[in-house]
Amino acid sequence: MLKGEHRLVTVMFVNFRGAGGQTSFGSQSRIAEAVRLLDSYLAIVHRIVSRFGGELLANDVTPAEQRLVVVFGALEAHEDDEERAALAALQIRDEVSQLGIRIEQRMGISSGHVFAGDVGSPARKDFTVMGDEVNLAARLAARAEWGQILLSERTYRKTADQFDFKALSPVAIKGKRARVPVYALAGHRKREAAPRFHAGAPKRPLLARDEELLALEHIMSLVLSGKGRVVEICGPPGIGKSRLVEEILRLWAQRGGEAYVGQCQSFGESSAFLPWGGLLRSLLGVQPEQLKAERETKIREVVSRLSPGLQEVAGTLGDVLGFPIEETTVAKSLDPQGRLQRLMELVAQVIRNKARERPLLLVMEDIHWTDVASRELLDHVAAHIEDVPVFLCLTQRSTARRPLALEDVPHYTRLVLEDLPPRESVELAGLAIGAATLPEELADLVVAKSRGNPFYIEQMMRSLADAGHVRRDDRTGQAAVVGDVLTIEVPDSVEGIIMSRLDALDETSRTILQVASVVGLRFQQPIVECVLGQSAMARDVRRSLERVEKAGLIRLERSDPVPEYLFDHGLLQQTIYESVPFTNRRELHCRVGEYLEEHYSDCLDAYLELLSFHYGNSTAKSRAFLYATKAAAKCAKMFANREAIEHYRRALDSVETLPREGISEQVKVYVGLCDVYVLTGRYDEAIATCRAGLEKRRWRARVRPIEGAPSPATGLALLCHRMGVAHERKGQYRRALQWYR
Ligand SMILES: Nc1ncnc2c1ncn2[C@@H]1O[C@H](COP(=O)(O)OP(=O)(O)O)[C@@H](O)[C@H]1O
Ligand SMILES: [Mg+2]
Repeated sequence: MLKGEHRLVTVMFVNFRGAGGQTSFGSQSRIAEAVRLLDSYLAIVHRIVSRFGGELLANDVTPAEQRLVVVFGALEAHEDDEERAALAALQIRDEVSQLGIRIEQRMGISSGHVFAGDVGSPARKDFTVMGDEVNLAARLAARAEWGQILLSERTYRKTADQFDFKALSPVAIKGKRARVPVYALAGHRKREAAPRFHAGAPKRPLLARDEELLALEHIMSLVLSGKGRVVEICGPPGIGKSRLVEEILRLWAQRGGEAYVGQCQSFGESSAFLPWGGLLRSLLGVQPEQLKAERETKIREVVSRLSPGLQEVAGTLGDVLGFPIEETTVAKSLDPQGRLQRLMELVAQVIRNKARERPLLLVMEDIHWTDVASRELLDHVAAHIEDVPVFLCLTQRSTARRPLALEDVPHYTRLVLEDLPPRESVELAGLAIGAATLPEELADLVVAKSRGNPFYIEQMMRSLADAGHVRRDDRTGQAAVVGDVLTIEVPDSVEGIIMSRLDALDETSRTILQVASVVGLRFQQPIVECVLGQSAMARDVRRSLERVEKAGLIRLERSDPVPEYLFDHGLLQQTIYESVPFTNRRELHCRVGEYLEEHYSDCLDAYLELLSFHYGNSTAKSRAFLYATKAAAKCAKMFANREAIEHYRRALDSVETLPREGISEQVKVYVGLCDVYVLTGRYDEAIATCRAGLEKRRWRARVRPIEGAPSPATGLALLCHRMGVAHERKGQYRRALQWYR
């Protein structure tokens, strides 16, 4: 009895051994152990397969090995079933080997039309797939070496641009006359796509940027011919910098280049190397959620390939990547300045040699928010790419602020984006609501209000549509104005428009967005749920976020392992953040800090700056002090002096309100800050810091000596000593001597 259909699917056979196939005659306890092992193995496979939308169909056992049949696209077709199968296969292989389970596997994958349907008697039916492709996948799995994943030609073609492969010589397969080509899957070419550039983003045409594109095409050709270039794209928020970058990434990919993106964040100015962290993690192919050993192997491998001369200091990369890396004694013995120097050399060399393998586009978005350490690294890299195919593309808001050190060098170009002209403004307004044309009076309103800012235009149109002032006539494709245009109130500033869009949301969504805005540009669903705590809203987060996403205010960046969203534009996050009343904001910062502390307790080191930021903006002063001092010490160790100073200053801000017990810790802040000042040649500030510290100490001591507290003498002595050092460096030896005494 057959009832089914022909469908385009991807079939995967997973053959495995070591889980009891051979122990069927063993003792009770061995059998029990084998069953446990099999159970946990099947659970892993099942979880991964269903995560990628596949079906686990059958599990059959032969004496030598057992096999699982998995099919993607049988019940529900996805356009990317081949990719899903390949990802699932890699993940099953890696997860099983990481867990150290005693199971060996080999897999075969093929794609094509098969019969899929229920087979069996009325009493018992099984969903089954049958056909040539099924046989081929089975044969490939049986031909594979243990640990190998073999793909058919067709599956390979559909996945070739996202995965790495090893082509093997064609093999003879039973039932096929000619030998068939096979490919061994080696790995996924992971790209940490920039937030806005994910594939699902709706593609709207790029308007009025022909000149810029022409210039960029020329620059790309230069880069591809081996001449490195730096391009800075400038313009006010919403003018279209990121949109242009999106276009650059597309063109670059067409030309076969490789690209990595780093994103600066408004909260990130005192987090050392924040944007470089994301960029280099994807460039090196390491992620924080990987096992430590795995990350280190990967880093060792990449550094030995791309910068063999600097392997000794590979550990310094940890400063940028945001997780610790095992360090050699050489790396450990470097002083902060030497450390930074070697790190910069290492990064530049990795980039140069990587580009020699394949032209490289590095994007750093919104560098007006960058920390000083990142900017130094940027300058260093920019100065070392002129003779290699590296395209360094930077965006920033203002043309005036903090110009690149490199501005005058010949391989630097600045593109300043202008407002959209009226015709394109109207066109974009139509596109924003899916209408072909706009009535004249509405077009006039758009031009007058927006002054050519694309982000404003899009937000304005959505807001008008939300409020029912404008709608698209489905019959004509035209936009129609409901009522009189002259009576419609449109805020003049983009912030005003954003607020009106926020007001149009339900209360839960609004609150959730406000919480999210405190977390940052990017946020995960669980953190919002946790911060909302027991309130009724916490239960509604998922649905609300989906609603807000539909409204176009946020985007789902990834859903795995937890949903992670991104504000559609930095201005949305900033404006919503500003709208949170001050006292609530402080409370929310505190809860965000608590969440981070709890959930990242095993890798707090990477979060010290962020914790310092959140607690610094809360009322939890002793936490603020604690993390500010830790973050400061961390930054000082990396020679990220400006960031260290910033955190020490934050620590001093909370000193006044602290209990007197931790007094020796408090003195250390003055000492630490003074050290950084001395290190950077700011002797007067060093002296002023010591003086403030000494005065405070005396003042405190005079009020009431604290019983049991560490003797203030140590702190006092340290401060006097630093005072001496600062004077000595200034050349004031007599004064120095007084303090040393
Ligand atoms: N030239 C353009 N043509 C069409 N849409 C544009 C153009 N420039 C910007 N946009 C749209 O305007 C919005 C804001 O642009 P974005 O690139 O995010 O601005 P910026 O990065 O400068 O702050 C985006 O939704 C973008 O798609
Ligand atoms: Mg942008």
